[in-house]
Amino acid sequence: MKLPLVVVLLIIQVALVESLKEVCGYLGDNVTLPSGADPSWNLTTIEWSIFSNDTWIATYRGEKLSVNRVSRYEGRLSLNIITGDLTIHNLNAGDAREYTVDLSPKKHDTVNKIMLRVRQRLQKPTTKIITSTATKEGCWLGLQCSSADKDVEFSWQIDTPNVTAFNMWDSNGRSSALLAFLNTTQKHVRFTCTTSNNRDNASSVITPKCDDGEHPPQPEPLPFPQPILHRNRYAFIFITGGFFGCSLTMIFIHSFLR
Ligand SMILES: *[C@@H]1O[C@H](CO)[C@@H](O)[C@H](O)[C@H]1NC(C)=O
Ligand SMILES: *[C@@H]1O[C@H](CO)[C@@H](O)[C@H](O)[C@H]1NC(C)=O
Ligand SMILES: *[C@@H]1O[C@H](CO)[C@@H](O)[C@H](O)[C@H]1NC(C)=O
Ligand SMILES: *[C@@H]1O[C@H](CO)[C@@H](O)[C@H](O)[C@H]1NC(C)=O
Ligand SMILES: *[C@@H]1O[C@H](CO)[C@@H](O)[C@H](O)[C@H]1NC(C)=O
Ligand SMILES: *[C@@H]1O[C@H](CO)[C@@H](O)[C@H](O)[C@H]1NC(C)=O
Repeated sequence: MKLPLVVVLLIIQVALVESLKEVCGYLGDNVTLPSGADPSWNLTTIEWSIFSNDTWIATYRGEKLSVNRVSRYEGRLSLNIITGDLTIHNLNAGDAREYTVDLSPKKHDTVNKIMLRVRQRLQKPTTKIITSTATKEGCWLGLQCSSADKDVEFSWQIDTPNVTAFNMWDSNGRSSALLAFLNTTQKHVRFTCTTSNNRDNASSVITPKCDDGEHPPQPEPLPFPQPILHRNRYAFIFITGGFFGCSLTMIFIHSFLR
């Protein structure tokens, strides 16, 4: 059977550049670029290069390994001579580019291209107590979680079962708040705020202390105006009475939106 010339040329082109694979790494992390070699190949030559002029950055030829050819990658490359995979350590933004690997096993000559993208990991969100009010039954807490990253989703996890909690979102999309009630049996509750996007996530934990009124005031300063609540606790509870939850929500919303 005779193939038309055009078809033959296409097949050759496909064979030369098998794929443009995309790999994603994070700033400061290590990333491994897969060579795409078949495990059965006995690789005799591995050549990793960058730029259109094929500047070699890591090579293995005639059993000689060379990974410090280019100063900007010096000390940051390791080449696996069995798989042909190249690992770049301590990624920086300038490492994001196209990499070419030339493999020469006994018979197959293969060129693969890998596009490396470098991203920044999500930063840990910041959690803080924005309001805290102790009652005889327990404690109302208003917690806020904010992130320096854009376009992240917030979620809260509570490590203790049966904690009453209400999620509240801030309109700016950069923070989330949680209103929770801890009864007197629920101590040392860990609240975890997680920010996530479709690639990554980051969390911070906060274990708020609630003043239950049975211990002397704590020596460390608390991040809310506790002394006022101390002095006026009973009056405060009396005035707010049955509307306690409601008024607290309003206080909370007020301090949160301020
Ligand atoms: C990155 O590679 C270096 C050198 O091999 C190693 O010490 C370090 O633990 C690696 N870092 C990560 C996050 O795997
Ligand atoms: C791989 O190739 C090298 C050089 O041609 C040869 O010395 C070695 O024995 C081969 N190894 C295997 C497992 O085929
Ligand atoms: C290859 O290209 C890069 C960037 O375009 C340049 O910095 C480098 O000097 C060139 N190398 C050679 C050997 O021409
Ligand atoms: C506190 O909450 C737990 C779980 O809902 C419940 O079992 C317990 O009876 C509550 N304690 C008080 C004093 O309300
Ligand atoms: C949580 O509530 C469920 C049902 O109300 C109850 O069976 C369970 O014992 C509670 N857990 C705790 C730790 O109080
Ligand atoms: C958060 O990222 C880790 C890996 O970094 C992953 O194991 C975990 O499943 C992720 N969690 C969520 C909720 O996406």
